[in-house]
Amino acid sequence: MRRRIASFDDLRDAITAYRLPRILIAALELNLFTAVDTGAWTVPALARKVNVSERGLAILCRNLAMAGLLKKSGETYRNSRLSATALNAQHPAYRGDYLKLIISHWADWGRLLESVKSGLPLDHGEPDEPDHRRRFTWAMHHRTLDTAPKIAAQIDLRGARTLLDLGGGPGTYAMAFLARNPTLRATVCDRPAAVDVAKEIAATHQAAARLSYLPLDIMVDAIPGTYDVIWYSNVLHIYGPKDNQALFRRVLAALNPGGRLLIQDAFLHDRDGVFPEEASLFAVSMLLFTEKGNTYSAAETKTWLTAAGFERIKVLRMKKGTEDWEDGILEARSPRTNGETRARRTGSAKNSRSRSLS
Ligand SMILES: C[S@@+](CC[C@H](N)C(=O)[O-])C[C@H]1O[C@@H](n2cnc3c(N)ncnc32)[C@H](O)[C@@H]1O
Repeated sequence: MRRRIASFDDLRDAITAYRLPRILIAALELNLFTAVDTGAWTVPALARKVNVSERGLAILCRNLAMAGLLKKSGETYRNSRLSATALNAQHPAYRGDYLKLIISHWADWGRLLESVKSGLPLDHGEPDEPDHRRRFTWAMHHRTLDTAPKIAAQIDLRGARTLLDLGGGPGTYAMAFLARNPTLRATVCDRPAAVDVAKEIAATHQAAARLSYLPLDIMVDAIPGTYDVIWYSNVLHIYGPKDNQALFRRVLAALNPGGRLLIQDAFLHDRDGVFPEEASLFAVSMLLFTEKGNTYSAAETKTWLTAAGFERIKVLRMKKGTEDWEDGILEARSPRTNGETRARRTGSAKNSRSRSLS
């Protein structure tokens, strides 16, 4: 979506757009959809159950009905299909860990000016702090459990025997690739607390026997082994350009000849590096929560990949409505033979650079 604020009314509408999110968050903080569950509730009965005022709840429920999350019929309210499932803690499809994460960002976004002034993240716990990492990893699972199978269905991994899910967190993508590719073996690599969550999630899947684990710091430790495919999803934006370029060199060394690096991220795609909207908005989260993170253009990322020695770089397009990010998957290949790798390292990098940018 391209937003253009040209009039004062546009500006007012953009600013007052905080109202609906605030209504949704109040309802989630109240666990309202869990309280409604499969029932039909009058406002007085529901107010007693969730222990709030009738007047407050009547206005909240009317707005939730306006937004489509509650269905109003006469004097009673019921859950919609979405609120009865993903927003209802009593339902197996509940995605509460992701909801909790994005709700927690409300207060952080309220402090945006602090980060704009300092250029630094707000003071959060260490990324390695195990409790934080555990909560975050479950949130990532609840974020992608719908998307990962759709992406895995569109990426042809025939011929690949091994896949490394680098910074794979809960391993939701690794599990989705394993489910689609019965002879594939996958490895989830992440910080130890994230890998523990990946193990718990994998234990509920049949393909768990084909999944192994590498608990390590990908920015510090060597990446052991070599792989046919390295899936690098939603990690690029956490780091600055220098760290990303250094990682690409190490990733290339961990790929078999002709192997594929698949990078899924919030890439900017227009010439000026402004759109899509989500990619620019997401950079604000990186300002708030990371030391050097940002979102990058696909073209800039291609130049880093080319300089690292990757070739045949292209954007893989997923079907509309199935993507994690709009046009957000870059594919890059390692040279097919060691001879090619040597040639590139000894002087052909300039040629490959101009080829990849054309
Ligand atoms: C935004 S999550 C993405 C998880 C998953 N790949 C996905 O797309 O849903 C980023 C992941 O990268 C991992 N990560 C970031 N820096 C890391 C590092 N230095 N070493 C190991 N893992 C790292 C985080 O722990 C986290 O699980």
